[in-house]
Amino acid sequence: MKTYLVTGGAGFIGSNFIHYIFDVHNGDVKVINVDLLTYAGNLENLADLEGNVNYSFIKADICDRDTISKIFAQNDIDYVVHFAAESHVDRSIRDPEIFARTNVIGTLNMLDCARYAWEEGEGFKEGKRFLHVSTDEVYGSLTEEGTYFYETTPYDPHSPYSASKASSDFMVKAYVDTYHFPAVITNCSNNYGPYQFPEKLIPLIINNVLTGKKLPVYGDGKNVRDWLYVMDHAKAIDMVLEKGRIGEKYNVGGHNEKQNIEIVKIIIDTIKEMLPDDDPRKAHINYDLITYVEDRKGHDRRYAIAPDKIKKEIGWEPDTMFAEGIKLTIRWYFEHTEWMEHVTSGNYQKYYEEMYK
Ligand code: NAD
Ligand code: TYD
Repeated sequence: MKTYLVTGGAGFIGSNFIHYIFDVHNGDVKVINVDLLTYAGNLENLADLEGNVNYSFIKADICDRDTISKIFAQNDIDYVVHFAAESHVDRSIRDPEIFARTNVIGTLNMLDCARYAWEEGEGFKEGKRFLHVSTDEVYGSLTEEGTYFYETTPYDPHSPYSASKASSDFMVKAYVDTYHFPAVITNCSNNYGPYQFPEKLIPLIINNVLTGKKLPVYGDGKNVRDWLYVMDHAKAIDMVLEKGRIGEKYNVGGHNEKQNIEIVKIIIDTIKEMLPDDDPRKAHINYDLITYVEDRKGHDRRYAIAPDKIKKEIGWEPDTMFAEGIKLTIRWYFEHTEWMEHVTSGNYQKYYEEMYK
């Protein structure tokens, strides 16, 4: 049975990944979830795993060397899956420093604690892997139709968020090149699905449609993102851990490019279609809710992943097409109004204190 140290497991992708590996490995894995529980981390996302002897949670900062090295000393960790990060571009524009601290210094600390724990002779213990979860935003912005991000595309980050992720990727590369450290990097496109904090486009729009609020669209609404259902990302990470080559990076995406305004209209149409006819909200849901607002500073125009390498080498392909994934996501938000209430009001902090007092 493999032991996974998952950082940022109480966040959006991390919590979906933990659910995924328990499911796909029939519960036959051990998971240690290390998360600081910032505004983006929520243990409600993993409430179903409480009491599972193969799952444990440790509230810790990835920058805290003593605590992280103790976790390595007390557990025989096979895989580190490193999600923990500050992840929202708009926040990085307002407050860049925390992005450098968590995303760069935090990643360096995780790498170094793993290096000390895994060292053996001149190399590293057999079978150990450090998977650094990164983003396509490190490659910058595409302008021309028909161009894509490949693993060989030069890094050209623009926001403090993407610059911090690019720096962390280079730190991982430095550990591979210098120490032959057993790391791999995945660079994924925009994810959507259950448990995503409603500061990101898709959950924000779903929540605003359901609560009758305006739908803010930045600039002309024609910026393009390449959307991937979060469980397909979880599957990619699981497969790269098993089959990825040390020192390599793999782009993850499903060729699902859409303009932001298309996404907003699809959400409006899909919610209307899914709500029962007697739902009083239905009458007020229409395109008039769309409000064009000031553009984001330095707004990247287009992201699009070429997933050829992961398909060819690892055999990964997405299972969930957008039309299905967006329905699954909307259905999840319909059914989790309490979760939304908690994360938007900060009440989940109380839930956490109750649970662990
Ligand atoms: P998220 O913001 O939902 O979750 C981040 C988690 O990290 C939270 O649980 C938070 O509490 C935790 N965290 C933050 N600072 C910490 C610290 N100092 N110590 C310990 N834990 C800390 O983010 P997400 O959307 O789930 O993204 C996860 C990872 O995937 C990030 O590294 C992000 O860059 C990457 N990524 C995200 C996307 C996307 O579309 N969301 C796409 C590609 C890559
Ligand atoms: P976001 O979900 O923040 O992801 P990222 O910036 O990492 O790609 O934003 C996705 C796109 O949606 C991006 O082009 C910015 C745009 N956007 C809006 O138009 N309105 C919003 O309220 C938000 C949050 C984003």
